[in-house]
Amino acid sequence: MVAIGCDHGGLEIKNAIIEELKKNGVEYIDLGTNTTDSVDYPVYAKAVCAEVVSGRCEKGILCCGTGIGMSIAANKVKGIRAAVLSDAFSAEMTRKHNNSNVLCLGGRVIDSAKAVELANIFLNTEFEGGRHEKRVAMLEG
Ligand code: RB5
Repeated sequence: MVAIGCDHGGLEIKNAIIEELKKNGVEYIDLGTNTTDSVDYPVYAKAVCAEVVSGRCEKGILCCGTGIGMSIAANKVKGIRAAVLSDAFSAEMTRKHNNSNVLCLGGRVIDSAKAVELANIFLNTEFEGGRHEKRVAMLEG
C-alpha cells in the first residue's frame, strides 16, 4: 500500500502518479489535496508520514511545488527517510542505499512523465542492505 499526498503545487504530478498506480494495480491511499486551492504542505506531509510510520503503508509519495517543503516536513517525523529528487539515478540510489520510505517530487520542477518514471523506480527498487544497514540505523540515533 502506498500513501500519496500533495499540495496545490504538486496536484498535477500526483494525479499522473495515481493514474500509473491504478494502471499497475498498486493499492494506494490518496490523502489529498484534490483541488488547486492553496493549502499548507505540512498538513499533507504529516498525513502521509503517519500512514507510513504506522505500517499501514509501506511507502509514501509527496508532491509540492519543489518537493523541498514536503521533504523537510517529512524528515521531521521519526522513522521517515524522505528523499527529494528529480533524476532517475537518485531515485534508484536512495532506495538501494538509504532505504528511503517517502519520495518527494516537485510539480514545478519536473513534468508528469518524469514524475511517473521516478515513482516507478522508487516503488520497484529494493534496499541493498549489507553495509548500508548500519548507516541507515545510525539515522535514527
Ligand atoms: C507553494 O506555493 C509552495 O511553496 C510549495 O508547493 C512547495 O514548493 C514548498 O516547498
